[in-house]
Amino acid sequence: MKILVGNWKSNGNMSDKKKLFAAIERTKTDIKIILCLPYTLLCCNKSNKIAIGAQNISDYTNGAFTGDISGQMIHDTGAKYVLVGHSERRTYHHENNAIVKNKANLAVQNKLIPIICIGETLAEHQSNKTKPVIKKMLLNSIPDYGNFIIAYEPRWAIGSGKTPKQTEVAKIHQMIFDILKSIDKEKTPILFGGSINAKNITRFKNIPHVDGFMVGRASLKSETFLPIIKSMN
Ligand code: 13P
Repeated sequence: MKILVGNWKSNGNMSDKKKLFAAIERTKTDIKIILCLPYTLLCCNKSNKIAIGAQNISDYTNGAFTGDISGQMIHDTGAKYVLVGHSERRTYHHENNAIVKNKANLAVQNKLIPIICIGETLAEHQSNKTKPVIKKMLLNSIPDYGNFIIAYEPRWAIGSGKTPKQTEVAKIHQMIFDILKSIDKEKTPILFGGSINAKNITRFKNIPHVDGFMVGRASLKSETFLPIIKSMN
């Protein structure tokens, strides 16, 4: 089953959430939809069609860690997923692979499925380092046990309107699949993301080992999100 993850980042309020949920409920689809919402919107969803994810998880378990939201707390809201190591966390909060792996482990321990994000910078892309960079990020960011999802999002594609060539995406997804297979994790879904919209998705949706997409801006409103759902049907 194809997966579509919407990442709202630091956007959206209750009313936006209600509107998008209602629009998705009215849409016929067989794909798996996961909305990764701000902590303030995680709670209390009744939809059978939409699974909920958080966008970050504390490095700590419950305790005296003011301002942190633990895996147990996320699980308690009913959320089933959590983004780990999103490029914006790696950039603005200096999360390295070791931190990401620890968070992925904490997610699994708290019955959450981590969506582990990996992607090269523009400089790495331009100097042909994408493959070694992605390989290292992948092997050093995944949890010690349990299921997870991989989201390949080139950092330079996020929010920029730029996307890699079809052939580049195909090569990287094949490499990620081969690595996962070598560690008996070939059933792990591999998503692609970065400036995805209803137009450009057609270029990527039939690439082998692209099991779905992760979408930022275009996931905020039904006008841009529903056409993506429809094109994945
Ligand atoms: P955009 O789709 O806004 O480029 O964001 C991608 C992203 O970061 C999803 O996690």
